[in-house]
Parts: sequence; C-alpha cells; structure tokens
Amino acid sequence: MFIGGYISAAGLGLTCPDWPFCPSGIFPDEQYFIEWTHRFIAAITGILVIATTIGCWLTKNSESKIKLTSTLAAIFVVTQISLGALVIDLKLHAVLVSIHLGIAILLFAMVLLTTLFAFRLNKKSIQTNV
Ligand code: HEM
Repeated sequence: MFIGGYISAAGLGLTCPDWPFCPSGIFPDEQYFIEWTHRFIAAITGILVIATTIGCWLTKNSESKIKLTSTLAAIFVVTQISLGALVIDLKLHAVLVSIHLGIAILLFAMVLLTTLFAFRLNKKSIQTNV
C-alpha cells in the first residue's frame, strides 16, 4: 500500500505500460524499478495470503471466523491483482484507482483480523484472580 501510494503521488503509474511484466521482462531495470517493486510485492503478498487461507481451512478445529476473514482476504488479493491490470489498461481511470485503494484497505483489514484471530490470547490465560 505504501509503494502504491508513492507511485500514485509521484505520477509513476504508467511508467510500466505492460502487464504482468514490464518491457524489461521478468527482471526490472532502473526505469521500471518502482512499478516492478509494487508488482513483485503484490505477487509475494498474493502467495502468502492464499497460503494462509489454505492453512486456515486445513487446520483442524480452526474457527469459522478465521476461515471467513482469510477467505475474504484471498478473494480481495486476487481481485486487487487483477484490478491492477485494468488500472494500467484503462490508463489510470480515476474510478478504478479509487476502487484499487478501497480494496487495498479491505484486504489490509481482513489480513489484520486473520492475524488477530490466529494469535488471540486464550481468554482464560488473561483472566485475573480478583
Ligand atoms: C496486493 C496487491 C496490491 C495492493 C495492496 C495495491 C495497493 C495500491 C495502493 C494502496 C495504491 C495507491 C492508490 C491511491 O493512492 O489512490 C496503488 C496504486 C497503484 N497500483 Fe496497486 N496494489 C496492488 C497490486 C497492484 C498490481 C498487481 C498492479 C499492476 C500490475 C498495480 C498497479 C497500480 C498502479 C498503476 C497504481 C498507481 C495508480 C495511480 O497512478 O494513480 N497494483 N496500489
């Protein structure tokens, strides 16, 4: 989200006009470095989010709310990456860029909730003896 905000504010949105790779191919060159980094981190994020969702579904006795938030995160990350292609294709159409920002926030919220549910302290362990 940080790199996306920088790209948007610096007007670098169309420096890499192709998708999924920049004209330099799978590796970046100086000209496309920031855009390439945004896409590279998006790809890593996508893999990690989907792996987390699979983990949530495969874990025995995992709660339904963590399955829900992780599944929504997976849906949002796939939508977001696909939308990235449209944002480029439609030359940074304002509505699409706004939706791209909105989905980034929803994705962040779902990843945060999933993390909180995963590491939530057992209620009993924080009860006081008062
Ligand atoms: C996990 C995936 C992604 C997240 C969380 C994400 C997030 C963001 C955010 C927060 C912004 C700033 C929006 C704004 O300031 O209004 C942005 C901008 C942008 N993103 Fe992404 N993004 C993702 C994937 C992608 C992908 C895969 C592409 C294209 C291949 C892409 C293309 C762009 C472009 C071109 C901009 C700049 C728009 C402009 O110049 O106004 N994004 N992204």
